[in-house]
Amino acid sequence: MRVGLLTGGGDCPGLNAVIRAVVRKGEMVYGDEVIGFLDAWDGVVARRTMSLDVRSLRGMLPRGGTLLGTKRGSPYDHPGDVDGVRATFQDMGLDALIVVGGNGTLSVACKLHEDFSLPIIGVPKTIDNDIVGTDSTFGFNTAVQIATDAIDRLHTTAESHDRVMVVEVMGRHSGWIATHAGIAGGATVILIPEEPFDVDEVCEILRARHERGRYASIVVVAEGAEPAEGTMPSREKVYDKFGHVRLRGIADLLAPEIEARSGLETRVVLLGHVQRGGTPSAFDRVLATRYGVEAIDAVHDGAWGMMTAIEGNHMIRFPLAETAGKSKPVDLDLYRVASVFFG
Ligand code: F6P
Repeated sequence: MRVGLLTGGGDCPGLNAVIRAVVRKGEMVYGDEVIGFLDAWDGVVARRTMSLDVRSLRGMLPRGGTLLGTKRGSPYDHPGDVDGVRATFQDMGLDALIVVGGNGTLSVACKLHEDFSLPIIGVPKTIDNDIVGTDSTFGFNTAVQIATDAIDRLHTTAESHDRVMVVEVMGRHSGWIATHAGIAGGATVILIPEEPFDVDEVCEILRARHERGRYASIVVVAEGAEPAEGTMPSREKVYDKFGHVRLRGIADLLAPEIEARSGLETRVVLLGHVQRGGTPSAFDRVLATRYGVEAIDAVHDGAWGMMTAIEGNHMIRFPLAETAGKSKPVDLDLYRVASVFFG
C-alpha cells in the first residue's frame, strides 16, 4: 500500500518513535511505501513530502520532536485546502493516511473521513494526556518526568531561602501533568483546571506548613487553572492565530497574591516548552512504538475512521468520531490521592 503519514499540532517526545514503528512494520512486513508529509496538513495540500524507509530512520528512536515538522491549523480554515487534500489523495494514489495528532488534528482527521470517506487512521499524541478514548498518550510520561526533575531541584533552593515556589506546568484544560508531577515531586498544593482554587485556602495551607517549621513549599499550578470567582483577579484571555486560548501565565498572577496574603516570600517558575523537548522516556518510546505498530495494522485492516488507543495494557481501536471535539479531564480520584499530601 501507499501510506501517507503526518504529525500535527504541538510536538511531543515520541513522535519519531511512532514514525519509525509505522515504517518498520509497513516496509518489512507488509511491503508498503510510506510517504511523510511535511508540516502537517500544509504538506498534504502543497504535496511537500519525504519518503520514509527503514534506513532513513536509523537513530530516530531517542530523538525528540518530529522529523516531519508540525504545525497547528486545519485545511478547513482556508478555502480550497480541503479540495487540495482530496486531490493529493487522488493524484498521489494514497491508499491511507496516518494522522498523528492531538485533539485539534484528530478532529480534522475525523471530519475529513466523515465528509469524504478518506481512508484515515488516527494516532493520539500529546504531553497533556487529555485525549478521550485512550488511557495514556505518549509524551505525557516524559513531560511529567521533566516537571518532576524541576520540582526536585526547586525543593533545595526553596528550603535554603524559606520560600514558596510556584511552578507552572502545561496541560491545557486538564490537570494531568500537574497532578502527576505534583504527587511525584511532593508538592505542598496542586492547582488544576478541573477545580477552581481559592488563593486564601492556598495561603492557609502554606502558613500552617511554615508555622510547623517547614522551610520550603512548592505550589504546582496547571496553566489552565483558574481562581474561583471573586477570590482574586483572573487573567485576560489571549488567543493565538488559530483562535485557541493561550494559557501561559497564571503563576505570574498567583505568586504576588500568595506573597501579599501569606507574607511568605514567593518566586515563580514557568516550565513552558522545556516539558515538550528532548528525548522521550523509555516508557514513551515503548508506548509510541506500540501505537505505530497498531496504526499500520489498522491500515491493513481497513479500520478507517479509528484511532489507535491503549486500554489497560492492551492496544485497542477507538472511533475518531467519539474523541473529536472533546477533552479528557484529570481523574479526580487521583487528585484526591494528591490532596492527602497537601500542607
Ligand atoms: O498541547 C500541548 C501544549 O504544550 C499545551 O500544554 C500548551 O498549552 C500548548 O501546547 C502550547 O502551545 P504552543 O506550542 O503553540 O505554544
